Amino acid sequence: MRDINQFTITEAVKKSFATEEGSRFKFLLEKLIDHLHDYTRETNLSHDEWMRVLMFLYDCGQISTPERHEFILLSDVLGFSALVDMINTRGGATEGSNLGPFYLDNAPTMELGADLAGPRQGVSVLCHGIIRDTLGHPIPGAIVDTWQADGSGTYPIQEEGQDKYDLRGVFTADENGRYYYTTVLPKPYTVPYDGPVGELLRAGSRHAWRAPHLHYMLRAPGMRSIVTEVFFENTDYVDNDAVFGVRRSLIAKVAPYKAEAAGDMTLERRPDAMLKFDFVLAPAD
Ligand code: BEZ
Ligand code: FE
Repeated sequence: MRDINQFTITEAVKKSFATEEGSRFKFLLEKLIDHLHDYTRETNLSHDEWMRVLMFLYDCGQISTPERHEFILLSDVLGFSALVDMINTRGGATEGSNLGPFYLDNAPTMELGADLAGPRQGVSVLCHGIIRDTLGHPIPGAIVDTWQADGSGTYPIQEEGQDKYDLRGVFTADENGRYYYTTVLPKPYTVPYDGPVGELLRAGSRHAWRAPHLHYMLRAPGMRSIVTEVFFENTDYVDNDAVFGVRRSLIAKVAPYKAEAAGDMTLERRPDAMLKFDFVLAPAD
């Protein structure tokens, strides 16, 4: 029997898996084992610390439900989700950002110019822009799926008695690649902090606030889909979003509404403000 020690155990564990030579799975698994073992050696992890980590993960599992994904939240507050979004952004395309837990994949289809806000309180805003490819050509028929919190920072899906499809809609860009609709500007809100991830935030003297944002998912045939968020200049937490979702390129300016600037857009509601944000989609791989 070959002896095993704290340095040879890493190779032994890797070898114990009969993974396909050259496969992506083998690569990912071996890197995970390398980094986990290196972390353990470098930190000289004690039994108490090791058990604390495992109990933390157990607690994340215990609080998770189909609606509450504590492990995704953990990934978010550790910047893991943001890093995956950054790595997977294609050159020239709009940068990706958090999907978050409130996406629904069958939101109502809306006509361009529709109002998502209805009677909701808040600053009414015209959101508009053009969806282009990386060569600058508009993409007619691109699909713009959007969802957001309301003027008090709550997603309708979080509230008893509210229609979970409120403040969300799926638009189809016109022949010039334009999208436009009105809504209310969302306010900041906190990520859930009543569980183990909240405990972690408190242990690190961190807050749980997200900078106010609009969520978008964009799709078009032959193009790589994008999940992203649009933030607003000079709003709270734009410099220290709890889940590291803000990128400079995703911050838009909210300006007073000007009918001339809205041009030929037919709007269901006259807004107070307007916000222009153009999206760029890269070709599918
Ligand atoms: C959100 O943007 O809706 C969100 C993102 C991460 C964690 C919680 C909420
Ligand atoms: Fe959100």
